Amino acid sequence: MKTSLVNKYNIPGPRYTSYPTVPYWDEAAFSSEDWQKSVVKSFNESNSEEGISIYIHLPFCEALCTFCACHKRITKQHSVETPYLESVLQEMDLYLKLFNEKPKLKELHLGGGTPTFFSPANLKKLLEGLFEKVDIAENQEFSFEGHPNNTTKEHLQTLFDLGFTRCSFGVQDYDPIVQKAINRIQPFENVKNVTEWAREIGYKSISHDLVFGLPHQTWEKMKHSIHRTLELKPDRLAFYSYAHVPWIKGVGQRGFDENDLPSGEEKRKLYENGKQLLEDLGYIEVGMDHFSLEHDDLYQSLKSGDIHRNFMGYSSSKTQLMIGLGMSAISDSWYAFAQNEKSVDEYQKRVAEGKIPVFRGHILNEEDLKIRQHILNLMCRLETSWDVQTEFPELENAIANLKEMEADGLIEIEKNHIKITEKGRAFTRNVAMTFDLRMLRNKPETRIFSMTV
Ligand SMILES: C[S@@+](CC[C@H](N)C(=O)[O-])C[C@H]1O[C@@H](n2cnc3c(N)ncnc32)[C@H](O)[C@@H]1O
Ligand code: SF4
Repeated sequence: MKTSLVNKYNIPGPRYTSYPTVPYWDEAAFSSEDWQKSVVKSFNESNSEEGISIYIHLPFCEALCTFCACHKRITKQHSVETPYLESVLQEMDLYLKLFNEKPKLKELHLGGGTPTFFSPANLKKLLEGLFEKVDIAENQEFSFEGHPNNTTKEHLQTLFDLGFTRCSFGVQDYDPIVQKAINRIQPFENVKNVTEWAREIGYKSISHDLVFGLPHQTWEKMKHSIHRTLELKPDRLAFYSYAHVPWIKGVGQRGFDENDLPSGEEKRKLYENGKQLLEDLGYIEVGMDHFSLEHDDLYQSLKSGDIHRNFMGYSSSKTQLMIGLGMSAISDSWYAFAQNEKSVDEYQKRVAEGKIPVFRGHILNEEDLKIRQHILNLMCRLETSWDVQTEFPELENAIANLKEMEADGLIEIEKNHIKITEKGRAFTRNVAMTFDLRMLRNKPETRIFSMTV
């Protein structure tokens, strides 16, 4: 039964960190002026109450991991740090010109690439520069991504002293054959050190990223990686499905053959066995790809209904406005999305010209806003309700597809309400796809998404 479900539902599909998803953005109808207007509207509506979020993309890595789908620039030249950080602060100034009061910073995330490529002193300079421009909200949530091979105790202490209480470390897999294939040799000792230092310093949430579906991975190897991970008991775990997207320019997925990848069915087993093992060991699945221990904020936010999903993945609270700074960063004003230039040079050039460096985006219409809410409900709460009369007639087609999923036991439908079942959890992306009217109207002709399982 399970095998046939995998065969049936394992199709290319979005990860829904936004709706509409990036390939369906109406770029022709987007302009930087409209983007800025949407930012001002959102800021005026929400800054004084809930504050704003800032995401800073720090793109540099010293070596290429050949499985990686992130926007990064590989270099060993650390002279790139200072000019890049100056551009980020200048970009922030361009946004400040739009506002009539100081932003209240509720959430801050440093992602990459590798934030810990930067020296602690440079990160401090960046953050002190940023903090001069904002008021920091009470109960602020500051987090960063660190590479276990280059995160130092000094990085951890410096960022903690600046208000960071959460960190995540890329682990992926501990098996030497898998590590070799993905060009990422990373001894357990390194992960142990950074995790223990972070705990000693006082970080309240430490997360590890594991990836299933990597080249040469088998359940035996994955099981070993999970057991090693649990020796360190991170508060959270991201258990990502390997996104194989070699057609995306600049991603650089190479160094292994497609035949080295586990088959769809093997990959599914890695997920199911992995999930079972994590749950047996006390982790709770809080949303697609994410597990946490009961005490962690992410689980608490799931229980209270405050959990949210955006380009950074899941977060324990929501702000209406999220400004993404840095090369390739995506911003979300709730009414619109915008993405910054994807090359470091172009990004820095645009900022130096005094322009907000967005190069594409999407302004959400009424229908997008409704669909987005349904997809968020499904991704965060595994359920949603609708009103066919007042919403959109095309949902009827979607409902026809839902009937098939209902027969397969993936969802339960009751009047205008659907709930994803335990069995259907792994197919959350498939359920969300039935609401994706933009994709239903215009099916992709070539592969643009990774597989859903
Ligand atoms: C920016 S990296 C984390 C920080 C640091 N650069 C590192 O590698 O440790 C973000 C995470 O995205 C995940 N990731 C990257 N490429 C992926 C892919 N193709 N499929 C699934 N997850 C991926 C990995 O788990 C990785 O740790
Ligand atoms: S996984 Fe991390 S370190 Fe490796 S290339 Fe991607 S962003 Fe850089």
